[in-house]
Formats: sequence, structure tokens, C-alpha cells
Amino acid sequence: MSTAPRSDSMRYQCGFGNQFSSEAMPGGLPRGQNSPQRHPLGLYAEQFSGTAFTVPRAEARRTWLYRIQPSAAHPRFQRLERQITGQQQGPVTPNRLRWNAFDIPAEPTDFIDGLHALASTSSAEQAEGVSIYVYTANLSMQRAFFSADGEWLIVPQQGRLRIITELGLLELKPQEIAVLPRGLKFSVELLDGAARGYLCENHGCALRLPDLGPIGSNGLANPRDFQVPHAYFEDSVQPTVLVQKFLGELWATTLGHSPFDVVAWHGNNVPYKYDLRLFNTLGTVSYDHPDPSIFTVLTSPGVVDGQANVDFVIFPPRWMVAENTFRPPWFHRNLMNEFMGLIDGAYDAKAAGFMPGGASLHNCMSAHGPDNASAEKAMAAELKPHKIEQTMAFMFETGKVLRPSYHALESPQLQSDYDVCWDGIARTFKPFDTDSQR
Ligand SMILES: [Fe+2]
Repeated sequence: MSTAPRSDSMRYQCGFGNQFSSEAMPGGLPRGQNSPQRHPLGLYAEQFSGTAFTVPRAEARRTWLYRIQPSAAHPRFQRLERQITGQQQGPVTPNRLRWNAFDIPAEPTDFIDGLHALASTSSAEQAEGVSIYVYTANLSMQRAFFSADGEWLIVPQQGRLRIITELGLLELKPQEIAVLPRGLKFSVELLDGAARGYLCENHGCALRLPDLGPIGSNGLANPRDFQVPHAYFEDSVQPTVLVQKFLGELWATTLGHSPFDVVAWHGNNVPYKYDLRLFNTLGTVSYDHPDPSIFTVLTSPGVVDGQANVDFVIFPPRWMVAENTFRPPWFHRNLMNEFMGLIDGAYDAKAAGFMPGGASLHNCMSAHGPDNASAEKAMAAELKPHKIEQTMAFMFETGKVLRPSYHALESPQLQSDYDVCWDGIARTFKPFDTDSQR
């Protein structure tokens, strides 16, 4: 039997000190304690920890699961022959990189087989940094999966996903995102036959909302718009393949039951989703271009105060009203490292070459900015209030250099001529003729 899927979700008050609870069957949640000697429904109690036990209370994440079979009931894992492509880091390059849209495969390919690593800051055994992937798939998973290597931030670009997790169901469409805690078991069904998107595996501190500082108590992503699933379970003894990602490698075992057998749960180590179109975008109402940190949806703090392990930043539709200002991002060179993708439409700093489903990488101190066509257009623009519509770009911005994978560097989607978009930029320097002014 299984509980009826519920399409609504609980609000995830994203302060993360918040606790949630859900039961798919009355009596599933023990009252007044976490681990009774015998559960009234004969369930097993299992703690699912996302942080060390002794971290500060505001950081602590754990959930108690009440399930039909404990997760420990599994045979040995065997290393799979088929691994995720692109796990090995490629040679160092300071060059700017950009990729065309990645193709949906012709062969039957599920979400895990369709994962391709593009870049990473560190290997998975480090408890910091990120790995970045694209996924292209055309087949629903017939198996379950978890990553022991990090929290997963999934950014769909094409095709709706139905993600069955131990804690319940999340339906996800492009312009929404989901975050799955490290170690959470899940399976991905494709609701539209083909799917493509981006994935950030966060090896560091769990993602959370950024502080707002002088912005005040409202703005950016509002806590009330994050959603957590309701409990959902399958009471099945159907053999199920369970794959795990451990230190970058895939291992599999076969369970004698469904891994989605959690009847009730409570805690704060939970999956959640968010609709990017609900982002409360802020910007200048006078002049100049604010830094893109003003568009941060979620952040994973790094070791240096204010320098994120990774920021997830979006560039949504918005009004541009700045006076006497070059409105797209001006040319820049940053300490931080920028991986960008495009979910929908066009990005205001690029006239061509950056397309939905494609990607770009600008690492530490790599000079970039608007291409020539965009720069000339922005310098000549009549500065009326203007709304940028039909756009949704994003950035995974990291404090550590993102090293591309061999797969990314050898991909036919890699653009060999990306630098050309800055070739032959007009010389507009006009020094004052000081003699004629005397
Ligand atoms: Fe940039």
C-alpha cells in the first residue's frame, strides 16, 4: 500500500532552526519522545543527521524517521561499472569557458546516468567546496539513490520532475529549485519525457537564506515561500536497487523492500523546494549597478566571514530604472568564481552565445563582462524605465576556484571562439585637447 501523494506542501520557514513534522498515518509520530522502546505501529525509529551532534544549535540539522524497515537492512554495496562522467578534474586553465546547450540523449538514460560533472572546487572527501553537474535524461529512474558526498541543489531547465524522497514527494518544474539533504534517498521520475538542468553538489555547510543586513526584515527569497513535503510511504517488498555516490564513485545494492517506507517524521534535516518567480528582486532606484549579491537566493557560508562556500544567485525579470548608468553588469574581475546557466530567455549582458541549457565559467580574476554588441547597445540606450522580461539566469558563485572536468573540456558543446565576443571593442577614448582650452 502507499499513501495518496499530496501535491500541497508545508511551508518551510527557512530559518532552519524550525522543526517540521508529518505523519502519513495517524499514530505514526510518537508523542513526547523520539525513540520509544516499541513503536505503537511497529515502526523502527532512525535518526538522520545532517550535521555533527555538537554544532551550535542554530546549525544543527537532524530528522527522526519512523519507518517499516531500518536503512541498515541492506546487503553489501558493489561498485558500479557505469560511473558519473566527468568526475576527474581536467587540466588547469585560466581561460573563460562557455558551452552550448547540452543535448538530451538518444539512448534510454535516467537522471543518474544522465549526470555529467562539469567542474568542482575540491574532491568530495573535503567537507567544503562544490561539484557542478548538468543532467540530461529521458527515462524515469527505476532505482533509488543517495549522495553521501553532499547536499544537492537541483535547478531544472527543461521538463518537470517528480522527486520521490524518504520524507515525501516534490514536484518540480523549470523556474523552481529543490534542495535535497546529503544522504537523503530519492528517485526522480520525468513527467515530460525529457529533462535537462543543472545541479550543484554542496560539500560544505548546508544552504540557508542569506542575512539581510541593512535591507531589513523583508526581501530577496521570503522564508514563507519555501515548501517541505508531507510524509508519504510505500509498504512494498518489491526488490529495489539502491545506488549511492560515495567519494565520487557509484555503488549499488538491492534492497528487499522500498526505501520510501517512512510513515512519519519530525525534524529539520528535510528536502524543500522554492519557486524562483517568487523572489523579491531588489535593485537601485538611483544610479549605478549593485553587485549581484543582491540577488542571492541561498548561501552556504565559507571559512572566511562573508566569503561564501557557494552562493546561489539568480537574475530574474526586473525593472531597470538607474539614471546616467550603464545598466548591464560592467566589465569586472572578481576574486569569486562564477559558473552561470540560463533557465529561460536571454541574459542582458550577452547578445548571443549564452543559451538556455548552456553554461559559462569565469574563474578567479578572469576578466569578463558584456559582449561588444551588448556594451555598445547599453552605452547608446535611451535611459527610460525598462523591464527585462522573459529571463531567468543563475550563478553558482564559489569562494574556491572551479576546476573544469575533462568531460567539460572535451565536450563538443564547448565554444572554441568564446573570446571573440570581446574582439575589436571600439576605442572610444577622447582625451581633452588641453592646448585648445588655454
Ligand atoms: Fe561575472
